[in-house]
Amino acid sequence: MGKFGDALRRAEEERREGASPVARAGAPAALGPGELDSRVVAYLAKASPEMEQFRMLRTNIMAIDPANPPRVLAVTSSVKKEGKSLTTLNLGATFAEQRDIRVLVVDADLRRPSLAGLLGIEARFGLSHLLTRDLPLHKAVRETPIPHLHLMPAGEACTNPAELLGSRQMSDLIEVLRTEFDFVLFDTPPILCVHDMGILGARMDGVVYVIKLHVTDRLRVQHGLDILERGRARILGLVLTNVMRDARSSSVVSEYYHYHR
Ligand SMILES: Nc1ncnc2c1ncn2[C@@H]1O[C@H](COP(=O)(O)OP(=O)(O)OP(=O)(O)O)[C@@H](O)[C@H]1O
Ligand SMILES: [Mg+2]
Repeated sequence: MGKFGDALRRAEEERREGASPVARAGAPAALGPGELDSRVVAYLAKASPEMEQFRMLRTNIMAIDPANPPRVLAVTSSVKKEGKSLTTLNLGATFAEQRDIRVLVVDADLRRPSLAGLLGIEARFGLSHLLTRDLPLHKAVRETPIPHLHLMPAGEACTNPAELLGSRQMSDLIEVLRTEFDFVLFDTPPILCVHDMGILGARMDGVVYVIKLHVTDRLRVQHGLDILERGRARILGLVLTNVMRDARSSSVVSEYYHYHR
């Protein structure tokens, strides 16, 4: 089980040392247009422990190769509802804290998009339009309430997301985004649902793999990681969500572990 097993063991030990049982996942807030979801902690609670965890995650990613840090990243997980979208947004927001930086988060979960909703943005055009029509890039990119953070929404629902994400147009778009932004983070579908993520992952500088602690079973995680490795994606690390850090508080945070095999 290697590094993955180590990461889970460490998280389990930390939990036993002082934390209370598994945290509840927050219920989705009812949002109106223009309202930012309160689970986007990096913006709303700058001094919170959750925010610190996302800053640490950013620092660890940058430290992988300080001279040439990964700039185009995908965030994925084995199955649904593990925290991919909130990790993408909060991590994107911490990248955007740096001075003179342009950051883009892309909603590449074409079947179950959520980033525009979490940011309180009503979106017309997005990724699927860029991949299927001749649309100028700026039409599919929106500013967000978070300074220096831009959003490319998913666009219209489509029936063939795997095909679109694995397409030549997608590769070309990734290269264009690389020149337009300092950091690009793709929120993606769960890898066990859309297998082409293996190919997509290899087109990125790296993949951050989210695991919902105590919820997602090991075999599924191992299977997802194997798909990425077979597709020659570079796995930058594992993010554990659903980690209770402090028994006195109800805060739910993410943990990051390096992954090398
Ligand atoms: N760090 C975390 N700790 C605990 N719960 C979390 C964490 N991050 C997200 N969640 C909860 O997990 C649920 C799913 O979050 P999110 O939408 O980010 O996941 P997802 O993997 O993108 O889901 P989907 O596959 O449906 O797109 C939400 O209820 C959210 O509040
Ligand atoms: Mg999501």
